[in-house]
Amino acid sequence: MADLVEEPVCKVDELQINEKKLVPFGGGKIIVVRESEDQFAAVGSVCSHYGAPLINGVVYKGHISCPWHGACFNLRTGDIEEFPGCDSIPAYETYVKNGSLYVKSPQSSIVKKRVKPLTPRSIINRTTYIIIGGGPAGFQCAETLRQEGFDGRVVLISAESVPPYDRTKLSKALTSKVEDILLRNEEYFKKAGIELLLGVQCTKVDVNSQLVYLDDGSNLNYGKLFIATGSSPRKYGSLSGNEKNVFYMRTYKLYLSKKVDFYVTPKVDFVIEEQLIRKVTFEGTELEADVCIIGIGSDPNTQFLADNADIKLSNSFIVVNEKFQTSAEDVYAGGDVVLYPNALFDNALMNIAHWQTAQIHGRFAALAMLDKTTSFTSVPFFWSAAFGKGIRFAGTIHDPKNVYIEGDLEQLSFVAIYYNSKGRAVGVATMANDPVATAFAAALRNGKVITKDDIDSQGFAWLEEIVN
Ligand SMILES: Cc1cc2nc3c(=O)[nH]c(=O)nc-3n(C[C@H](O)[C@H](O)[C@H](O)COP(=O)(O)OP(=O)(O)OC[C@H]3O[C@@H](n4cnc5c(N)ncnc54)[C@H](O)[C@@H]3O)c2cc1C
Ligand code: FES
Repeated sequence: MADLVEEPVCKVDELQINEKKLVPFGGGKIIVVRESEDQFAAVGSVCSHYGAPLINGVVYKGHISCPWHGACFNLRTGDIEEFPGCDSIPAYETYVKNGSLYVKSPQSSIVKKRVKPLTPRSIINRTTYIIIGGGPAGFQCAETLRQEGFDGRVVLISAESVPPYDRTKLSKALTSKVEDILLRNEEYFKKAGIELLLGVQCTKVDVNSQLVYLDDGSNLNYGKLFIATGSSPRKYGSLSGNEKNVFYMRTYKLYLSKKVDFYVTPKVDFVIEEQLIRKVTFEGTELEADVCIIGIGSDPNTQFLADNADIKLSNSFIVVNEKFQTSAEDVYAGGDVVLYPNALFDNALMNIAHWQTAQIHGRFAALAMLDKTTSFTSVPFFWSAAFGKGIRFAGTIHDPKNVYIEGDLEQLSFVAIYYNSKGRAVGVATMANDPVATAFAAALRNGKVITKDDIDSQGFAWLEEIVN
Protein backbone atom coordinates (compact mmCIF):
# COMPACT_ATOMS: atom_id res chain seq x y z
CA MET A 1 0.00 0.00 0.00
CA ALA A 2 1.53 3.29 -1.11
CA ASP A 3 0.02 5.11 1.84
CA LEU A 4 1.66 2.88 4.48
CA VAL A 5 4.61 4.15 6.54
CA GLU A 6 6.63 1.41 8.24
CA GLU A 7 9.93 2.30 9.93
CA PRO A 8 12.29 0.99 12.63
CA VAL A 9 12.30 3.68 15.32
CA CYS A 10 14.78 2.40 17.92
CA LYS A 11 16.52 -0.69 19.28
CA VAL A 12 14.36 -2.64 21.71
CA ASP A 13 17.09 -2.76 24.35
CA GLU A 14 17.31 1.06 24.34
CA LEU A 15 14.01 1.07 26.26
CA GLN A 16 13.58 0.00 29.89
CA ILE A 17 10.17 -1.20 31.09
CA ASN A 18 7.86 1.83 31.60
CA GLU A 19 10.31 4.07 29.78
CA LYS A 20 9.15 6.44 27.05
CA LYS A 21 11.24 7.79 24.20
CA LEU A 22 10.78 10.47 21.57
CA VAL A 23 11.64 8.98 18.17
CA PRO A 24 11.41 10.11 14.54
CA PHE A 25 8.59 8.58 12.51
CA GLY A 26 6.86 9.48 9.25
CA GLY A 27 8.67 12.81 8.98
CA GLY A 28 7.71 13.92 12.50
CA LYS A 29 8.21 12.76 16.09
CA ILE A 30 6.22 10.21 18.07
CA ILE A 31 6.53 8.65 21.52
CA VAL A 32 7.22 4.95 22.01
CA VAL A 33 6.74 3.28 25.38
CA ARG A 34 7.87 -0.12 26.62
CA GLU A 35 5.01 -1.28 28.83
CA SER A 36 6.41 -4.74 29.63
CA GLU A 37 9.11 -7.11 28.38
CA ASP A 38 7.34 -7.63 25.05
CA GLN A 39 4.61 -5.00 24.98
CA PHE A 40 5.18 -1.65 23.29
CA ALA A 41 3.00 1.34 22.45
CA ALA A 42 3.45 4.22 20.02
CA VAL A 43 1.44 7.45 20.21
CA GLY A 44 1.53 11.07 19.08
CA SER A 45 3.94 13.33 20.95
CA VAL A 46 1.83 16.48 21.40
CA CYS A 47 -1.04 17.06 23.82
CA SER A 48 -4.33 17.78 22.05
CA HIS A 49 -5.22 20.54 24.57
CA TYR A 50 -2.59 23.30 24.26
CA GLY A 51 0.18 21.29 22.60
CA ALA A 52 2.41 20.37 25.55
CA PRO A 53 5.24 17.92 24.78
CA LEU A 54 3.99 14.60 26.14
CA ILE A 55 7.57 13.35 26.49
CA ASN A 56 7.69 15.47 29.68
CA GLY A 57 4.49 13.83 30.95
CA VAL A 58 3.77 10.70 32.92
CA VAL A 59 3.37 7.11 31.75
CA TYR A 60 1.37 5.09 34.26
CA LYS A 61 -0.85 2.01 34.02
CA GLY A 62 -1.43 2.02 30.27
CA HIS A 63 -1.84 5.80 29.92
CA ILE A 64 0.22 8.87 29.13
CA SER A 65 -0.72 12.11 30.93
CA CYS A 66 0.15 15.64 29.95
CA PRO A 67 2.70 17.46 32.14
CA TRP A 68 0.85 20.79 32.01
CA HIS A 69 -2.83 20.24 32.88
CA GLY A 70 -3.15 16.47 33.32
CA ALA A 71 -5.06 15.38 30.17
CA CYS A 72 -4.71 11.62 29.94
CA PHE A 73 -4.56 9.43 26.83
CA ASN A 74 -4.91 5.67 26.49
CA LEU A 75 -1.63 4.21 25.18
CA ARG A 76 -3.42 1.50 23.14
CA THR A 77 -5.99 3.71 21.42
CA GLY A 78 -4.76 7.29 21.92
CA ASP A 79 -8.26 8.14 23.14
CA ILE A 80 -8.58 11.05 25.56
CA GLU A 81 -9.83 9.61 28.86
CA GLU A 82 -9.23 12.55 31.18
CA PHE A 83 -9.59 16.20 30.25
CA PRO A 84 -8.93 19.13 29.55
CA GLY A 85 -8.94 19.19 25.75
CA CYS A 86 -11.43 17.81 23.26
CA ASP A 87 -9.42 15.55 21.02
CA SER A 88 -7.56 12.27 21.10
CA ILE A 89 -4.03 11.64 19.87
CA PRO A 90 -2.98 9.09 17.24
CA ALA A 91 -1.91 5.59 18.33
CA TYR A 92 0.19 3.43 16.01
CA GLU A 93 0.79 -0.27 15.49
CA THR A 94 4.15 -1.61 16.71
CA TYR A 95 6.10 -4.83 16.23
CA VAL A 96 9.60 -6.11 16.96
CA LYS A 97 11.94 -7.49 14.27
CA ASN A 98 15.66 -8.32 14.60
CA GLY A 99 15.96 -6.44 17.90
CA SER A 100 14.37 -3.25 16.52
CA LEU A 101 11.03 -1.70 17.35
CA TYR A 102 9.00 -0.96 14.22
CA VAL A 103 6.05 1.40 13.91
CA LYS A 104 3.48 1.11 11.15
CA SER A 105 0.70 3.49 10.12
CA PRO A 106 -1.16 4.79 7.12
CA GLN A 107 0.39 8.18 6.22
CA SER A 108 -3.05 9.79 6.60
CA SER A 109 -3.17 8.75 10.29
CA ILE A 110 0.10 10.48 11.14
CA VAL A 111 -1.50 13.60 12.61
CA LYS A 112 -1.07 15.74 15.72
CA LYS A 113 -4.56 15.07 17.05
CA ARG A 114 -7.71 13.32 15.97
CA VAL A 115 -11.41 13.74 16.57
CA LYS A 116 -13.18 10.62 17.82
CA PRO A 117 -15.67 9.30 15.25
CA LEU A 118 -19.25 10.50 15.73
CA THR A 119 -22.44 8.48 15.28
CA PRO A 120 -24.57 10.01 12.52
CA ARG A 121 -28.04 11.29 13.46
CA SER A 122 -30.80 8.88 12.47
CA ILE A 123 -34.12 10.47 11.53
CA ILE A 124 -35.92 7.27 12.55
CA ASN A 125 -34.85 7.65 16.20
CA ARG A 126 -37.31 10.17 17.69
CA THR A 127 -35.72 10.15 21.18
CA THR A 128 -34.61 13.65 22.20
CA TYR A 129 -31.83 14.34 24.71
CA ILE A 130 -31.67 17.97 25.79
CA ILE A 131 -28.69 19.73 27.32
CA ILE A 132 -29.11 23.07 29.08
CA GLY A 133 -25.83 25.03 29.21
CA GLY A 134 -23.18 25.67 26.58
CA GLY A 135 -20.09 25.43 28.82
CA PRO A 136 -17.61 22.52 28.94
CA ALA A 137 -19.99 20.18 30.80
CA GLY A 138 -22.84 20.70 28.33
CA PHE A 139 -20.52 20.55 25.33
CA GLN A 140 -18.83 17.36 26.50
CA CYS A 141 -22.16 15.69 27.21
CA ALA A 142 -23.41 16.45 23.69
CA GLU A 143 -20.23 15.28 22.03
CA THR A 144 -19.98 12.12 24.14
CA LEU A 145 -23.55 11.15 23.25
CA ARG A 146 -22.56 11.20 19.59
CA GLN A 147 -19.19 9.51 20.21
CA GLU A 148 -20.83 6.72 22.18
CA GLY A 149 -23.46 5.70 19.69
CA PHE A 150 -26.55 7.86 20.39
CA ASP A 151 -28.29 8.56 17.08
CA GLY A 152 -31.40 10.33 18.36
CA ARG A 153 -31.95 14.10 18.54
CA VAL A 154 -29.45 16.15 20.61
CA VAL A 155 -30.31 19.77 21.43
CA LEU A 156 -27.84 22.06 23.21
CA ILE A 157 -29.47 25.16 24.70
CA SER A 158 -27.28 28.05 25.81
CA ALA A 159 -28.04 31.51 27.13
CA GLU A 160 -24.88 32.70 25.37
CA SER A 161 -25.13 33.77 21.74
CA VAL A 162 -21.99 31.88 20.62
CA PRO A 163 -21.18 28.16 20.43
CA PRO A 164 -19.22 26.64 23.36
CA TYR A 165 -15.77 28.27 23.74
CA ASP A 166 -12.71 27.99 25.97
CA ARG A 167 -13.75 30.17 28.89
CA THR A 168 -10.41 29.67 30.66
CA LYS A 169 -8.68 31.78 28.01
CA LEU A 170 -10.79 34.83 28.91
CA SER A 171 -8.62 35.69 31.88
CA LYS A 172 -5.33 34.77 30.23
CA ALA A 173 -5.41 35.58 26.50
CA LEU A 174 -7.16 38.91 26.92
CA THR A 175 -7.13 39.75 23.23
CA SER A 176 -8.89 36.56 22.13
CA LYS A 177 -11.58 36.83 19.48
CA VAL A 178 -14.40 34.37 20.09
CA GLU A 179 -13.75 32.59 16.75
CA ASP A 180 -10.24 31.80 18.00
CA ILE A 181 -11.39 30.14 21.20
CA LEU A 182 -14.40 28.10 20.04
CA LEU A 183 -14.23 24.45 21.13
CA ARG A 184 -15.85 23.50 17.80
CA ASN A 185 -17.30 25.66 15.03
CA GLU A 186 -20.96 25.74 13.96
CA GLU A 187 -20.18 23.59 10.91
CA TYR A 188 -18.90 20.83 13.21
CA PHE A 189 -22.10 20.87 15.29
CA LYS A 190 -24.15 20.70 12.10
CA LYS A 191 -22.20 17.68 10.88
CA ALA A 192 -22.43 16.06 14.31
CA GLY A 193 -26.20 16.47 14.28
CA ILE A 194 -26.10 18.54 17.47
CA GLU A 195 -28.72 21.30 17.30
CA LEU A 196 -27.54 24.55 18.90
CA LEU A 197 -30.22 26.78 20.42
CA LEU A 198 -28.18 29.88 21.25
CA GLY A 199 -29.17 33.05 23.09
CA VAL A 200 -32.07 31.27 24.75
CA GLN A 201 -32.58 30.80 28.45
CA CYS A 202 -34.35 27.92 30.16
CA THR A 203 -36.92 29.30 32.60
CA LYS A 204 -38.52 26.12 33.96
CA VAL A 205 -38.26 22.32 33.90
CA ASP A 206 -41.40 20.23 34.34
CA VAL A 207 -40.28 16.69 35.10
CA ASN A 208 -43.83 15.24 35.02
CA SER A 209 -44.55 16.31 31.46
CA GLN A 210 -40.78 16.13 30.61
CA LEU A 211 -40.82 19.66 29.23
CA VAL A 212 -38.18 22.37 29.22
CA TYR A 213 -39.59 25.94 29.00
CA LEU A 214 -37.58 28.68 27.29
CA ASP A 215 -37.64 32.46 27.58
CA ASP A 216 -38.72 32.85 23.95
CA GLY A 217 -42.08 31.34 24.95
CA SER A 218 -41.42 27.90 23.43
CA ASN A 219 -41.02 24.54 25.12
CA LEU A 220 -39.30 21.28 24.22
CA ASN A 221 -40.05 17.73 25.21
CA TYR A 222 -37.10 15.63 26.44
CA GLY A 223 -36.45 11.91 26.81
CA LYS A 224 -33.45 12.65 29.01
CA LEU A 225 -32.13 15.99 30.21
CA PHE A 226 -28.67 17.18 31.27
CA ILE A 227 -28.46 20.45 33.23
CA ALA A 228 -25.08 22.22 33.12
CA THR A 229 -25.91 25.86 33.67
CA GLY A 230 -22.65 26.61 35.51
CA SER A 231 -22.19 29.54 37.83
CA SER A 232 -22.17 33.33 37.79
CA PRO A 233 -19.85 35.75 39.59
CA ARG A 234 -21.10 36.57 43.08
CA LYS A 235 -22.13 40.23 43.38
CA TYR A 236 -20.71 42.45 46.11
CA GLY A 237 -23.52 42.96 48.63
CA SER A 238 -23.26 46.70 49.16
CA LEU A 239 -23.20 47.56 45.44
CA SER A 240 -26.41 48.21 43.50
CA GLY A 241 -25.21 46.65 40.24
CA ASN A 242 -25.56 49.99 38.41
CA GLU A 243 -21.95 51.08 38.91
CA LYS A 244 -20.33 51.52 35.50
CA ASN A 245 -16.68 50.88 36.33
CA VAL A 246 -17.17 47.58 38.16
CA PHE A 247 -16.26 44.27 36.53
CA TYR A 248 -16.66 40.81 37.98
CA MET A 249 -14.23 37.91 37.57
CA ARG A 250 -14.20 34.43 38.97
CA THR A 251 -10.64 33.26 38.79
CA TYR A 252 -7.80 33.22 41.22
CA LYS A 253 -4.89 35.14 39.79
CA LEU A 254 -1.32 35.68 40.85
CA TYR A 255 0.02 39.19 40.51
CA LEU A 256 3.02 38.79 42.76
CA SER A 257 6.02 41.03 41.99
CA LYS A 258 4.22 42.78 39.13
CA LYS A 259 3.59 46.08 40.86
CA VAL A 260 0.35 44.73 42.25
CA ASP A 261 -0.20 45.54 45.92
CA PHE A 262 -2.08 43.08 48.12
CA TYR A 263 -4.26 44.17 51.04
CA VAL A 264 -5.87 41.56 53.24
CA THR A 265 -9.12 42.77 54.77
CA PRO A 266 -12.42 41.12 55.59
CA LYS A 267 -14.59 43.89 54.14
CA VAL A 268 -14.37 46.93 51.89
CA ASP A 269 -16.62 49.97 51.37
CA PHE A 270 -16.96 52.19 48.32
CA VAL A 271 -17.22 55.90 47.60
CA ILE A 272 -19.61 56.12 44.63
CA GLU A 273 -20.38 59.25 42.60
CA GLU A 274 -22.53 59.36 39.47
CA GLN A 275 -22.65 55.53 39.24
CA LEU A 276 -18.85 55.31 39.26
CA ILE A 277 -16.75 53.91 42.07
CA ARG A 278 -14.25 56.64 42.99
CA LYS A 279 -12.64 55.04 46.03
CA VAL A 280 -12.37 51.68 47.78
CA THR A 281 -12.01 52.09 51.55
CA PHE A 282 -11.12 49.70 54.37
CA GLU A 283 -9.60 49.87 57.84
CA GLY A 284 -8.45 53.50 57.51
CA THR A 285 -7.07 53.05 53.97
CA GLU A 286 -8.54 54.82 50.93
CA LEU A 287 -7.63 53.70 47.43
CA GLU A 288 -8.68 55.77 44.44
CA ALA A 289 -10.14 53.61 41.68
CA ASP A 290 -10.68 54.07 37.94
CA VAL A 291 -11.89 50.52 37.51
CA CYS A 292 -12.90 47.97 40.12
CA ILE A 293 -12.62 44.24 39.39
CA ILE A 294 -14.41 41.99 41.86
CA GLY A 295 -13.58 38.31 42.31
CA ILE A 296 -15.39 36.94 45.35
CA GLY A 297 -16.50 33.53 44.16
CA SER A 298 -19.52 32.38 42.23
CA ASP A 299 -23.06 31.12 42.73
CA PRO A 300 -24.75 28.28 40.82
CA ASN A 301 -27.18 29.20 38.04
CA THR A 302 -30.21 27.37 39.42
CA GLN A 303 -32.71 30.23 39.79
CA PHE A 304 -34.95 28.48 37.24
CA LEU A 305 -35.14 25.45 39.56
CA ALA A 306 -35.78 27.35 42.80
CA ASP A 307 -39.47 26.34 42.92
CA ASN A 308 -38.94 22.88 41.49
CA ALA A 309 -39.82 20.30 44.17
CA ASP A 310 -38.67 17.38 41.99
CA ILE A 311 -35.04 18.36 41.51
CA LYS A 312 -33.27 18.44 44.85
CA LEU A 313 -31.06 21.44 45.58
CA SER A 314 -28.72 22.04 48.51
CA ASN A 315 -27.47 25.60 49.06
CA SER A 316 -28.71 26.29 45.51
CA PHE A 317 -26.50 23.51 44.03
CA ILE A 318 -28.13 20.54 42.27
CA VAL A 319 -27.46 17.32 44.20
CA VAL A 320 -26.49 14.35 42.00
CA ASN A 321 -25.50 10.73 42.65
CA GLU A 322 -22.43 8.91 41.33
CA LYS A 323 -24.12 8.64 37.91
CA PHE A 324 -24.77 12.40 37.85
CA GLN A 325 -28.51 11.71 38.16
CA THR A 326 -30.59 14.25 40.03
CA SER A 327 -33.50 13.31 42.28
CA ALA A 328 -35.74 13.40 39.19
CA GLU A 329 -35.82 10.44 36.84
CA ASP A 330 -34.13 11.08 33.50
CA VAL A 331 -32.68 14.40 34.67
CA TYR A 332 -28.90 14.56 34.99
CA ALA A 333 -26.62 17.46 35.94
CA GLY A 334 -22.89 18.26 36.08
CA GLY A 335 -20.18 20.92 36.18
CA ASP A 336 -20.08 24.01 38.39
CA VAL A 337 -23.78 23.68 39.18
CA VAL A 338 -23.65 20.36 41.10
CA LEU A 339 -22.72 18.81 44.39
CA TYR A 340 -21.47 15.32 43.48
CA PRO A 341 -20.17 12.40 45.55
CA ASN A 342 -16.49 11.73 44.94
CA ALA A 343 -15.57 8.09 45.52
CA LEU A 344 -11.89 9.06 45.83
CA PHE A 345 -12.65 11.21 48.84
CA ASP A 346 -15.01 9.04 50.93
CA ASN A 347 -18.00 9.92 48.73
CA ALA A 348 -18.12 13.41 50.22
CA LEU A 349 -20.53 15.67 48.31
CA MET A 350 -18.36 18.23 46.53
CA ASN A 351 -18.78 21.27 44.36
CA ILE A 352 -15.68 21.70 42.22
CA ALA A 353 -15.59 24.56 39.76
CA HIS A 354 -12.80 23.46 37.40
CA TRP A 355 -12.84 23.21 33.62
CA GLN A 356 -11.57 19.59 33.61
CA THR A 357 -14.14 18.57 36.20
CA ALA A 358 -16.99 20.05 34.16
CA GLN A 359 -15.83 18.18 31.06
CA ILE A 360 -15.56 14.83 32.81
CA HIS A 361 -18.98 15.33 34.45
CA GLY A 362 -20.45 15.93 30.99
CA ARG A 363 -18.82 12.78 29.68
CA PHE A 364 -19.92 10.59 32.60
CA ALA A 365 -23.46 11.95 32.55
CA ALA A 366 -23.67 11.12 28.82
CA LEU A 367 -22.43 7.59 29.51
CA ALA A 368 -25.02 7.23 32.28
CA MET A 369 -27.76 8.55 29.96
CA LEU A 370 -26.75 5.74 27.58
CA ASP A 371 -26.60 3.15 30.42
CA LYS A 372 -22.85 2.78 29.91
CA THR A 373 -21.69 3.96 33.32
CA THR A 374 -18.22 2.99 34.50
CA SER A 375 -16.77 3.84 37.92
CA PHE A 376 -15.93 7.50 38.34
CA THR A 377 -12.28 7.81 39.31
CA SER A 378 -11.55 11.29 38.00
CA VAL A 379 -9.28 13.48 40.13
CA PRO A 380 -10.11 17.21 40.10
CA PHE A 381 -7.38 19.19 38.30
CA PHE A 382 -7.14 22.97 38.15
CA TRP A 383 -4.60 25.23 36.49
CA SER A 384 -4.18 28.93 36.17
CA ALA A 385 -1.49 31.30 34.95
CA ALA A 386 -0.52 34.95 35.17
CA PHE A 387 2.60 36.86 34.11
CA GLY A 388 4.16 33.65 32.81
CA LYS A 389 3.78 31.77 36.10
CA GLY A 390 1.55 28.70 36.14
CA ILE A 391 -0.06 27.03 39.11
CA ARG A 392 -1.46 23.48 39.12
CA PHE A 393 -3.70 21.87 41.67
CA ALA A 394 -4.78 18.22 41.72
CA GLY A 395 -7.14 16.60 44.23
CA THR A 396 -8.84 18.42 47.05
CA ILE A 397 -8.06 20.20 50.33
CA HIS A 398 -9.57 19.03 53.62
CA ASP A 399 -7.63 21.34 55.91
CA PRO A 400 -5.39 24.04 54.41
CA LYS A 401 -3.14 23.90 57.49
CA ASN A 402 -2.51 20.17 57.12
CA VAL A 403 0.14 20.68 54.46
CA TYR A 404 3.75 19.70 53.75
CA ILE A 405 5.69 22.13 51.56
CA GLU A 406 8.86 21.33 49.66
CA GLY A 407 10.59 24.12 47.73
CA ASP A 408 10.49 27.88 47.93
CA LEU A 409 7.22 29.80 48.09
CA GLU A 410 9.01 33.14 47.61
CA GLN A 411 10.65 31.90 44.42
CA LEU A 412 7.28 30.51 43.20
CA SER A 413 8.81 27.05 42.90
CA PHE A 414 7.25 24.51 45.22
CA VAL A 415 5.21 21.36 45.79
CA ALA A 416 2.59 21.57 48.56
CA ILE A 417 0.96 18.30 49.62
CA TYR A 418 -2.34 18.44 51.51
CA TYR A 419 -3.38 15.64 53.87
CA ASN A 420 -6.75 14.63 55.25
CA SER A 421 -7.30 13.97 58.96
CA LYS A 422 -6.21 10.33 58.47
CA GLY A 423 -2.82 11.41 57.10
CA ARG A 424 -3.63 10.51 53.51
CA ALA A 425 -2.41 12.85 50.76
CA VAL A 426 -5.55 14.20 49.05
CA GLY A 427 -4.27 17.24 47.15
CA VAL A 428 -1.17 18.80 45.68
CA ALA A 429 -0.45 22.36 44.54
CA THR A 430 2.65 23.02 42.47
CA MET A 431 4.47 25.84 40.74
CA ALA A 432 7.45 25.29 38.42
CA ASN A 433 7.42 21.58 39.24
CA ASP A 434 5.73 19.83 36.32
CA PRO A 435 4.75 17.03 36.08
CA VAL A 436 4.23 16.51 39.84
CA ALA A 437 0.52 17.50 39.88
CA THR A 438 -0.11 15.28 36.84
CA ALA A 439 1.72 12.35 38.50
CA PHE A 440 -0.26 12.84 41.71
CA ALA A 441 -3.56 12.83 39.78
CA ALA A 442 -2.50 9.69 37.88
CA ALA A 443 -1.57 7.98 41.15
CA LEU A 444 -4.88 8.80 42.85
CA ARG A 445 -6.90 7.89 39.78
CA ASN A 446 -5.30 4.45 39.86
CA GLY A 447 -6.03 3.87 43.54
CA LYS A 448 -2.54 4.54 44.90
CA VAL A 449 -2.57 5.67 48.52
CA ILE A 450 0.17 8.14 49.46
CA THR A 451 0.41 8.88 53.18
CA LYS A 452 2.08 11.41 55.42
CA ASP A 453 4.19 8.57 56.85
CA ASP A 454 5.40 7.64 53.34
CA ILE A 455 6.41 11.22 52.67
CA ASP A 456 8.01 11.72 56.11
CA SER A 457 10.07 8.53 55.74
CA GLN A 458 10.72 8.34 51.98
CA GLY A 459 10.13 11.85 50.67
CA PHE A 460 9.10 11.77 47.05
CA ALA A 461 9.78 8.07 46.42
CA TRP A 462 6.12 7.68 45.30
CA LEU A 463 6.84 10.15 42.55
CA GLU A 464 9.95 8.40 41.30
CA GLU A 465 7.88 5.25 40.80
CA ILE A 466 5.46 7.16 38.55
CA VAL A 467 7.59 9.70 36.70
CA ASN A 468 9.63 7.94 34.05
C1 LIG B 1 -12.63 33.95 33.27
C2 LIG B 1 -12.57 32.53 33.75
C3 LIG B 1 -11.33 31.83 33.73
C4 LIG B 1 -11.25 30.51 34.19
N1 LIG B 1 -10.03 29.86 34.16
C5 LIG B 1 -9.95 28.56 34.57
C6 LIG B 1 -8.71 27.84 34.51
O1 LIG B 1 -7.68 28.38 34.12
N2 LIG B 1 -8.70 26.54 34.89
C7 LIG B 1 -9.83 25.90 35.33
O2 LIG B 1 -9.77 24.70 35.66
N3 LIG B 1 -11.02 26.55 35.41
C8 LIG B 1 -11.10 27.87 35.05
N4 LIG B 1 -12.30 28.54 35.14
C9 LIG B 1 -13.47 27.81 35.65
C10 LIG B 1 -14.13 27.03 34.52
O3 LIG B 1 -14.24 27.83 33.37
C11 LIG B 1 -15.50 26.56 35.01
O4 LIG B 1 -15.32 25.68 36.09
C12 LIG B 1 -16.24 25.86 33.87
O5 LIG B 1 -16.48 26.72 32.78
C13 LIG B 1 -17.58 25.31 34.37
O6 LIG B 1 -18.21 24.70 33.30
P1 LIG B 1 -19.80 24.46 33.27
O7 LIG B 1 -20.07 23.79 31.97
O8 LIG B 1 -20.22 23.79 34.51
O9 LIG B 1 -20.46 25.90 33.31
P2 LIG B 1 -20.18 27.25 32.51
O10 LIG B 1 -18.88 27.20 31.79
O11 LIG B 1 -20.42 28.35 33.48
O12 LIG B 1 -21.30 27.23 31.40
C14 LIG B 1 -22.65 27.32 31.74
C15 LIG B 1 -23.43 27.69 30.51
O13 LIG B 1 -24.84 27.63 30.79
C16 LIG B 1 -25.47 28.81 30.31
N5 LIG B 1 -26.67 29.02 31.12
C17 LIG B 1 -26.77 29.41 32.41
N6 LIG B 1 -28.06 29.44 32.80
C18 LIG B 1 -28.79 29.05 31.73
C19 LIG B 1 -30.18 28.87 31.50
N7 LIG B 1 -31.09 29.07 32.46
N8 LIG B 1 -30.58 28.49 30.26
C20 LIG B 1 -29.68 28.27 29.26
N9 LIG B 1 -28.35 28.41 29.43
C21 LIG B 1 -27.92 28.79 30.64
C22 LIG B 1 -24.42 29.87 30.46
O14 LIG B 1 -24.71 30.97 29.65
C23 LIG B 1 -23.17 29.10 30.02
O15 LIG B 1 -23.06 29.06 28.62
C24 LIG B 1 -12.42 29.87 34.69
C25 LIG B 1 -13.64 30.56 34.73
C26 LIG B 1 -13.72 31.87 34.27
C27 LIG B 1 -15.05 32.58 34.31
S1 FES C 1 -1.61 21.18 27.31
FE1 FES C 1 -1.97 19.13 27.86
S2 FES C 1 -3.57 19.25 29.29
FE2 FES C 1 -3.25 21.28 28.71
